[in-house]
Amino acid sequence: MDIKDKYEEIAELEGMVDPFKTLMMQYECAMLEVKTKLEVLNKELALINSRNPFESIKCRIKSPVSIIEKLKRRDLDLTIENIEDCLNDIAGIRVICSFPDDIYMLVDCLLKQDDIKLIEQKDYIKNPKPNGYRSLHLILDIPIFLTGEKKHMRVEVQFRTIAMDFWASLEHKLKYKKDIENAAGISEELKYCADIISQLDRRMEQIRTKIEQKDK
Ligand code: GTP
Ligand code: MG
Repeated sequence: MDIKDKYEEIAELEGMVDPFKTLMMQYECAMLEVKTKLEVLNKELALINSRNPFESIKCRIKSPVSIIEKLKRRDLDLTIENIEDCLNDIAGIRVICSFPDDIYMLVDCLLKQDDIKLIEQKDYIKNPKPNGYRSLHLILDIPIFLTGEKKHMRVEVQFRTIAMDFWASLEHKLKYKKDIENAAGISEELKYCADIISQLDRRMEQIRTKIEQKDK
């Protein structure tokens, strides 16, 4: 690309800055809405069950660089419309639970709410990815109420147990190490660890059930 083209590309982007900022603000509002809904459920269920259904909740807005890269990967032009129509994970929430059954209970309660619409659900807990990855992913549609309009936004929510999160975080770090020797062997070992972690989750859940029954 010569220098003139480069300038033209930057000039084109310049007109996008304000609409982009507005759109990111709207995603942040949608993310806050969903986060608040989850925190409300956490408070109520903690009171009923004497323990929190989730341990922690993390929110992030996808960085401009990641947005540009993802559109490029999909051969899409960098436009506000493409960001809104084609990317579902601009606003992302990760909910870390202690036990797998808490995940399903929370998802159930969230999806019952009448202002939330489920766009897509991927249950990588019941159907783990071939590499061993486990989590439950939702793409939600939620309205936000701005000064002059009501707008529907999409938010991605990932639910994992502490153990699944431990595995996914380490696997993610290792994936970006390009110079691994014996990559196939390492993948196999990671898959093995993912299966042990899943057994561990089930056993911890059984222990909890036994303790809760004794409490009654
Ligand atoms: P993306 O283009 O990455 O959004 O893929 P997708 O649209 O097919 O979505 P999917 O629901 O499969 O995965 C979305 C997100 O889940 C990723 O951005 C990661 O945060 C997480 N994820 C999915 N697969 C893996 C995996 O194998 N390992 C780890 N560590 N995280 C994963
Ligand atoms: Mg993604």
